[in-house]
Amino acid sequence: MFERTNEAATSLETSRERIPVNGNWRFSRTETNPDNLIYDLRPDAASLTNLQILKPWILPSANDFIADPADHHQRPSVESPGSNVSFAQPKSDDSSWESVTLPHDWAIKGPFYTAENAVIGGGMGRLPSQGVGWYRRKLSIGAADKGKTIHLEIDGAMSYAMVWVNGQLVGGWPYGYQSFRLDITAFVVQGDDNQLAVRVDNPVQSSRWYPGGGGLYRNVWLTKTEALHVGQWGTFITSRDVSDKSAVLDLVVQVENSGTQKRQVQVVTEVYTLDSATERIGDRPVAQFPRSTVSVNAGAKTSTNASLTLNSPNLWQPLPVAQNPNLYVAVTRLYSNNALTDSYTTRFGIRSLVYSGSSGLLVNGQRIPIRGVNQHHDLGSLGAAFNARAASRQLETLRSLGANAIRMSHNPPTPELLDLTDRMGFLVMDEIFDCWEKQKNANDFHLIFADWSEPDLRAFIRRDRNHPSVISWSVGNEVGEQTDGDSGAAIAKRLHDIAKQEDPTRPSTASMNVAKPNMPFPAALDTVSLNYQGEGIRDTPAYAGLPGTTTPPIYGAFHAAFPDRLLLSTETAASLSTRGAFFFPLTSETSAPSSAAGGANSTLRQVSSYEVYTTPFGASPDKVFAAQDANSPYVAGEFVWAGWDYLGEPDPHYSARSSNFGIIDLAGFKKERWWLYMARWRPEERFAHILPHWSWGADNTTGEEGREGKVTPVHVFTSADEGELWVNGESMGRLRKGEGVYRFRWDGVVYQPGEVRVETWKGGREWAEERVRTVGRKERIRLTVDRGVIKGDGVDLAFITAEVVDGRGDVMPRADDEITFEVESKGGGVGEIVATDNGDPYDFVAFPSKRRKAFAGMALAIVKSGSGVKGELTVTAEGKGLKGAKSKIRAQVKLSMIRI
Ligand code: GAL
Repeated sequence: MFERTNEAATSLETSRERIPVNGNWRFSRTETNPDNLIYDLRPDAASLTNLQILKPWILPSANDFIADPADHHQRPSVESPGSNVSFAQPKSDDSSWESVTLPHDWAIKGPFYTAENAVIGGGMGRLPSQGVGWYRRKLSIGAADKGKTIHLEIDGAMSYAMVWVNGQLVGGWPYGYQSFRLDITAFVVQGDDNQLAVRVDNPVQSSRWYPGGGGLYRNVWLTKTEALHVGQWGTFITSRDVSDKSAVLDLVVQVENSGTQKRQVQVVTEVYTLDSATERIGDRPVAQFPRSTVSVNAGAKTSTNASLTLNSPNLWQPLPVAQNPNLYVAVTRLYSNNALTDSYTTRFGIRSLVYSGSSGLLVNGQRIPIRGVNQHHDLGSLGAAFNARAASRQLETLRSLGANAIRMSHNPPTPELLDLTDRMGFLVMDEIFDCWEKQKNANDFHLIFADWSEPDLRAFIRRDRNHPSVISWSVGNEVGEQTDGDSGAAIAKRLHDIAKQEDPTRPSTASMNVAKPNMPFPAALDTVSLNYQGEGIRDTPAYAGLPGTTTPPIYGAFHAAFPDRLLLSTETAASLSTRGAFFFPLTSETSAPSSAAGGANSTLRQVSSYEVYTTPFGASPDKVFAAQDANSPYVAGEFVWAGWDYLGEPDPHYSARSSNFGIIDLAGFKKERWWLYMARWRPEERFAHILPHWSWGADNTTGEEGREGKVTPVHVFTSADEGELWVNGESMGRLRKGEGVYRFRWDGVVYQPGEVRVETWKGGREWAEERVRTVGRKERIRLTVDRGVIKGDGVDLAFITAEVVDGRGDVMPRADDEITFEVESKGGGVGEIVATDNGDPYDFVAFPSKRRKAFAGMALAIVKSGSGVKGELTVTAEGKGLKGAKSKIRAQVKLSMIRI
């Protein structure tokens, strides 16, 4: 990510510098308001008195993203009430505050709130994200910076961020997921003791998921440029008439002059190749846009356009076509009086997108079925603080499943995540809002929608529109206004029109779980995005009698109403399962609510992993697949709810802390569903996956009876079309998949310990065989590390999986032994364990703990490298009594650390 570092910027011969401001912060958080400041009155602050409202001083930060100058906000001429707040003052003593490095999430370390009526309940993840956080650090401004324009860039601050420099309020940004910048030039002085102070404020009941006690949970940068520079997100490159032979590139460059004199500027933009695997830029330009000269008034911005035809372009291709798609980088240089004043890089990709009503999404002329998942922003036990390795692990896991698309539910991601999706070939639905004027929670975005929907939407699109992975803008998720007739449609149209002004090349959409084809709402948008309605909601017998409306499968009706529009499901399934849990008897239905027999165990707070149980409005994967296939190819595909489990929304057990919706659990371990999706998304993979495990003897510790002699259904997930199952050598019969059937199920199997074996055939040919056997006695812990070499940069991570296994190395599927992880490094400091997890949504041991119970036989430890340290470390995992009563079992993994 060369354009994001100071070093690389220098190599591009410019005085532009972009310096990370992530180290040396002091931090303090209070649950109650410590200073009487507030952005604006809010329900959760109703009982507070003497509040000082700073909104009039914050609103002007939005001006660059408000189209009509008449709507721009003027900073009040009176001094802001926040200008004498003590924490913002340089002289304020923060020596007793916690030292932190960004990105930082104060809440993730816990402890969890476990009480029924806790201030932060299950929905928001039971972690202490609420309250006011203050961050302070010094900023050094050198003599060479005289005359420079200095911006502070914050990739996201949760939430209601307010920024002071040297005791003066500069501005801020309320929406916690939005990137923003502030011009601090007028507030800084030369020297190294400029005092930066950032205040964030997280209300209770502000979110339907874990927002993170993020505060400064993404990167913060200081950007120094000459007065004459490329504006914020000031380039836009689009491609048209794309083929293997040539492509036309259109470029817009916005030049900003923060100086006091009118300037003539020559704008020169060259195009280089960019290797997406190594991020290496090509040696010489492959093309140059025609130069243009513009004049920019003092304190003004001017845009200039240019186009070129590139021969034999290397097209950006999505998964599964390309693993490392082709990218380009444009380097824009500004010259004034023959002197270089700025150099600015823009990464982009060349591809054509066709949004077809009849055949779905075509990328470079080829139909690409959308095999997508929804992802929330948290990184499991690491919380909301962005970490590139944790994010790429999530994406790599999804890629190996065969997923090729991500919906950023339901908020702007950190910018680095889109760099990753560009480089890995994921298609992205970039989404901004979960609510508009109508609230989903008392203190959510609806409170500021009127003032901020336009600037947030414009900023969001301007930041992300050069990413080739982004295929669509989603301006809302299941907003309450869907069924409001013309008034709801009017808001949709306003947002749609803003999106079109910022990016005429991509469609905008909003997901609909209740709007119907004949309502005004869908007509206001470009494409049809359905949540759950496509496959039908509560329309099958197992869901009869549940509260809520019933919706028959609706793909056909939407397609008939909008035959020319791309149609897809932005959310499907909402299946529930807890890894390793199975309950009996199993329903004979293909899809059933988790409240049905065999669905969930409310004492354990677990949901069955037979992968047929769902939230009340959900559908099993099988039901979704059948609906999609019945309406192929005009249904462009789906985004499953959800890819990975996430913090919060612990449906159906509100007393837990994390979700059951993921195909992958919170620790990154595969649930059974993994193989059901893999069979569909990677049908060429030869495998047959048997469930459940086959170790159902009595459990003396829990008193659970054995299942000997009891019906214990066996299901097999595979892309084969024929299969035969044997239990202890006896055939349970040969099955053939009919149309609309996506699994083999032998529901009458009676459990006896031993071995279950399946043999499968595809098109009459042998396909894959699999066996599962009853485990023996617990013997040891097995450790596996995802990467043996990590960077010693204080950021990189190693993920270590611990499994409790028997003498033959089979994982004990019901083991819940406590494992203690330790790290030993020669000389110390090479790395430390920063979190452990096991994927159990009901485990309230704080994430930084080094002791973690195995859950369904598995646990995870995450090691973060020390900063600038090289050496070796050893991770050990110990558990009591794993082999006999007396001996300890020690497993070790060596990580060779290299310094970058
Ligand atoms: C949808 C919603 C998602 C998630 C999901 C599962 O209605 O859009 O954010 O809540 O349900 O409950």
